[in-house]
Amino acid sequence: MRLDKYLANNGFGSRSEVKKLIASGKISVDGTVIKDSTYNVGEGSVISGTDAAEGHRVSTEMTYYMMNKPSGVVTAASDATSPVVMELLGNDRRPGLNPVGRLDKDTEGLLIITDDGELNHFLTSPKRNVPKKYFAILDGIPDEEGIARLKEGIRFKEFTSRPALLEISEIDRKAGTSGVFITVTEGKFHEVKRLAAAIGCDVKYLKRTMFAGIELDEGLAPGEYRKMTDAETDMLRRAVTKND
Ligand code: URA
Repeated sequence: MRLDKYLANNGFGSRSEVKKLIASGKISVDGTVIKDSTYNVGEGSVISGTDAAEGHRVSTEMTYYMMNKPSGVVTAASDATSPVVMELLGNDRRPGLNPVGRLDKDTEGLLIITDDGELNHFLTSPKRNVPKKYFAILDGIPDEEGIARLKEGIRFKEFTSRPALLEISEIDRKAGTSGVFITVTEGKFHEVKRLAAAIGCDVKYLKRTMFAGIELDEGLAPGEYRKMTDAETDMLRRAVTKND
């Protein structure tokens, strides 16, 4: 892989920043200064030159984790006041690893974390219609009309939502609450909460159970993560290519 692409993909700066770094003669590969951004780095080469790159061993193998995100943790690399999902990776945390999309601080469930920047970009592109399924406990019980409005698409000030499928799983008439599954293909900010509010229900609890056809491994307790299987990563790639 090209040196500039490798450094940018692995969190050493933007493509133009790493190009400048390379051109200034700061980067060495296996002990030799390399000023050519197109230089091909191979598996196992050692990169030195900046604090971040000191002694970095090249690995072109991509990493894909599935995490059961707990409530109370922000989907970010850093936050001034709250814990962030990347801290949950402990010793597995590396530059270049990023969450795929965002879950609200109070949302739990399936979060993919990868250093495959290209796939991350495709999976979060609104054009790709990647499906996401959530389990929600609602303050309120959706009626047929509300479910039909979600299916048609709801007109908000800035956009009309794409069709969303709501399936009722449980109803507590005494408490006036319901447990529902809702499947969306967009990825807008607070999407499920806004859709629920538009049909008169507040979300009391939210958990993502599926992303791009991959189900959350229910063996993962909140805060736990594991490497994704080859079958799961193949599915991720299929989810983005089928809409090309
Ligand atoms: N929709 C929301 O409202 N919140 C999330 O975290 C995810 C989807």
